[in-house]
Amino acid sequence: MRLDRFLAKTLGETRTTVKKYIRTKKVTVNGEVIISDGFQVDTINDVVAFDGEVLQYEEFQYYLINKPEGYVCANEDNVNPTIISFAPEFMMYKLHTVGRLDKDTTGALLLTNNGKLTHQLISPKKNVEKVYLATTDLPIKGELVARFARGIKIDEDFTTLPATLEIVESNVGRVTVVEGKFHQIKRMFQAFGLNVVKLHREQFAGLRVDDLEIGEYRKLEHDEINLLIKD
Ligand code: URA
Repeated sequence: MRLDRFLAKTLGETRTTVKKYIRTKKVTVNGEVIISDGFQVDTINDVVAFDGEVLQYEEFQYYLINKPEGYVCANEDNVNPTIISFAPEFMMYKLHTVGRLDKDTTGALLLTNNGKLTHQLISPKKNVEKVYLATTDLPIKGELVARFARGIKIDEDFTTLPATLEIVESNVGRVTVVEGKFHQIKRMFQAFGLNVVKLHREQFAGLRVDDLEIGEYRKLEHDEINLLIKD
């Protein structure tokens, strides 16, 4: 990879800015000052440093956000703000969301620019677990636990896979599913005459957002990324 591109990616700066760094001899490769923008960097083996600090090249970026209400999971939308526009990093790295949450749903949402991983994680074959906390307008009857476990017909031609329902409070249920049809959780409750008035995703593919306030986000740790990639 060209040195100016490498620097722009790792430092999150424009090409014009990094070219200035190169010209002012702030950049070394394997200990040697390099003054050519087009110098070819071996991203695996070369040690590139800026102002004496070694730069780590990451091919892909992975962020977890505790999604706030009011944002849609799309790259562009003419009416509503998109979750991509929420953080400068999401735009800078051209991230996309792994699956979607409704505009009024909060909670665990993964963003990346690794399209291959996204494809794997949203594939129904992959059985990625998602845990939701749903607040309903009416009390949740105990008999729904068995109905959720059997699978629910939410469409003429679609019955959900078995799901786990735990009644947390009379109007609050924790639901674990391994698929992600459009408005799935809301439609599962609607099948029994209940409206979901609040929906929060506690967990996605083992990633929890308990340590993040609504609207907070963080980069995934290396071991978290490895777990996602490995599975
Ligand atoms: N199910 C829903 O109904 N909405 C979501 O946002 C996610 C799952």
